[in-house]
Amino acid sequence: MAATEKRMSDGKRVLLCKTSDLAPGEVRKVERADGPAIAVYNIEGTFYATDDCCTHGLASLAEGVIEGENIECNLHFGGFHVPTGKAVFAPCSIDIRTFPIEISNGDVFAVTTD
Ligand code: FES
Repeated sequence: MAATEKRMSDGKRVLLCKTSDLAPGEVRKVERADGPAIAVYNIEGTFYATDDCCTHGLASLAEGVIEGENIECNLHFGGFHVPTGKAVFAPCSIDIRTFPIEISNGDVFAVTTD
C-alpha cells in the first residue's frame, strides 16, 4: 500500500490505513514516495508505527510475527518492543524508529519529520 502524505507546520502526516483495515494482532507495510517504508501495527486495539526495515538486516518487520507488544523479525528471529522501538531479542541490538500516531475520522496517520 502506498501512503498519502501531507506536510503540516509541526511535521508530516503520513496516511497509513483506516482503523478498520487492521484487526488486533495485525501489522502492515506502507510504502512511501519520499521516505523509508513504515510498519503500522494494531496491538490490542492500539495503533503504533515504526520503520518497517529491521535494523539487523534487510527484512520487512511487517512480515514478522507480533508476540504481545513485540514484533519478531522473520529473517533471524530478532525482535523489537513496538511501542518504544527498543531492540529486545538478539541478534537485533539497534533500536528501530517509532512514530507518533494520530487518528482522525477513522484514518490512521504517522507523524514524521522526514
Ligand atoms: S534481519 Fe531482522 S533479525 Fe536479522
